[in-house]
Amino acid sequence: MMKKTLSLGAAIGAVALGAMAYYGNNKIDVTEHSYSKEDFGENLDGLRMVHLSDLQMKSFGQGNKKLASRVKSLRPDLIFFTGDALDRRYESFDNAIALMEKLVDIAPVFFVDGNHERAFVIDDETKQSMLEIFHEELKKLGVRILSNSSEAVKVRNGKIRIMGLDEKEVMIPGKNRLKKREDVDLGSLEETIRSIKSQGDDCDLTVFLAHEPQFIKEYSTSDADFVFSGHAHGGQVRIPFIGGIFAPGQGFLPQMSEGVIVHGRSIMMVSRGLGNSSFPVRVFNCPEIILAVIE
Ligand SMILES: [Fe+2]
Repeated sequence: MMKKTLSLGAAIGAVALGAMAYYGNNKIDVTEHSYSKEDFGENLDGLRMVHLSDLQMKSFGQGNKKLASRVKSLRPDLIFFTGDALDRRYESFDNAIALMEKLVDIAPVFFVDGNHERAFVIDDETKQSMLEIFHEELKKLGVRILSNSSEAVKVRNGKIRIMGLDEKEVMIPGKNRLKKREDVDLGSLEETIRSIKSQGDDCDLTVFLAHEPQFIKEYSTSDADFVFSGHAHGGQVRIPFIGGIFAPGQGFLPQMSEGVIVHGRSIMMVSRGLGNSSFPVRVFNCPEIILAVIE
């Protein structure tokens, strides 16, 4: 009798854990950050920017329908995607492309690569760069890829400059592996950022997109008002009152795994991302969409 009760308890516990894990990995949180038009000018009053990151080839509903409809409900003027739409574990772009197809119908989409895009190097059959093929697909859809470049767009009654860093600047050349912060040539990174910054004239607002958040000190030399970043997956497992457990490039108890970090004049918003890295489960860390509003 005792044995039966124990095994029933274990079964209920396992089902409850499974349900919790499913919920925690599929419920999408929207985190809203609101900024005053007094600081950014009346021209951008009402501006709504949606930030997505780290899909890792996950699909929320068939063809990412649920995710796209959630984004649409937020009525964005602009959508930023800060890398790792793909995942090097899957040799397919399908879920990422299915999402982008829907996003471009909602608002202009700006994209920077993450380390997982950079890991798609050569297709054995065609001998073509898989990254190039992915970029071609994105461009066909009208997604604007920023790769150490910047673009100005008119939005509302103002003009915004969007700068984007190529992830290769913080990866090991030719190997497409992550570097630790101490192994990155920070002088050269700043030089690259200076050159991106010099590409455009003044706008009402400047935004900097970069996959990895741990270089905020360097990103802030762009004088961007807002930096959007991801990669850290919220630390994957989050412990209440402590925070994330581990993030690639930052190690254990990462300081920049989510939320807002201010450096100099730049306000960085770090997305907890949408999918999972090589660790398959998110705990107390639902997938996240960021909505930044000026009002
Ligand atoms: Fe990443």
